[in-house]
Amino acid sequence: MSAPAVAQRGPDQTPPGRERRFELLAASGFGLGFLGGVGLAICYALGGQPQAEGVLLALTLGGLGFGFVIWGHDLLPQGPIVQQRGALGSSEAERHAFEEDLERGHVERRTLLRRTLGLALTALGVAVAFPVRSLGPSPGDSLRRTLWRKGTRAVNGSGTPVRANDVPVGGLVTVFPEGDVESGSGQTVLIRVEEGLLRPRPGRDSWAPGGLVAYNKVCTHAGCPVGLYQAESHQLLCPCHQSAFDVLDGARPTAGPATRSLPQLPLAIDPDGFVVAQRDYTEPIGPAFWNRR
Ligand code: FES
Repeated sequence: MSAPAVAQRGPDQTPPGRERRFELLAASGFGLGFLGGVGLAICYALGGQPQAEGVLLALTLGGLGFGFVIWGHDLLPQGPIVQQRGALGSSEAERHAFEEDLERGHVERRTLLRRTLGLALTALGVAVAFPVRSLGPSPGDSLRRTLWRKGTRAVNGSGTPVRANDVPVGGLVTVFPEGDVESGSGQTVLIRVEEGLLRPRPGRDSWAPGGLVAYNKVCTHAGCPVGLYQAESHQLLCPCHQSAFDVLDGARPTAGPATRSLPQLPLAIDPDGFVVAQRDYTEPIGPAFWNRR
């Protein structure tokens, strides 16, 4: 039993003049997208202006969207399309008509649309590639290193080297690597606790001579300075969101939103009694970042 015929609507039934108008309309949309993309790239290259960039981006995407809608709604065949199934194969006249159709109508139309669409997408691609420049130079491994090195002396905020005897039991001094008292990443809290109370992590037995222990001052939650110390409970406190770190247990977080311990600086005392570093921190300081392992 043959299927009922359903009204068809497609390129074959669209009057040539009307089809051409839609084709030009869609191409105009893509052309507008192209101009918007070029304008966006130029605007950004000249230094950028947020309002102008917004308008140009809207033109680009709007033009592309307009072209796609016209193409899809008025130039592509619309369903449902049902055709009576006849004999397979085409007559010579049908083949000839199809070839003419292909050469004159569809191929020309798709070439024009493809070209204008390609131009618009290329211009948009170029424009959106520009902001990559705004990311700035690569940080390299600067996020993983500080200025502490083997033998670097610890100095206070005035640049004066700190002796081990300068820090009493229960006391806290903020120190920096000698030569860089402005160091944000190298700022370190030096604390002395009663000997024998510390519970060093594996491999850290020699990092806290005489109960003198040092932790990085940058909070591992969001980077505030961890500068408050409760000597009775041996807790370092962050004033921003109330994270607490156990000084006796490798500065393990015990309260608040921080989830990682403060990095510990391996310390030594040089022959003159000054506090020095054994080496740099063994882990990145501060909050987590994108590819931190
Ligand atoms: S920055 Fe320290 S708890 Fe949030």
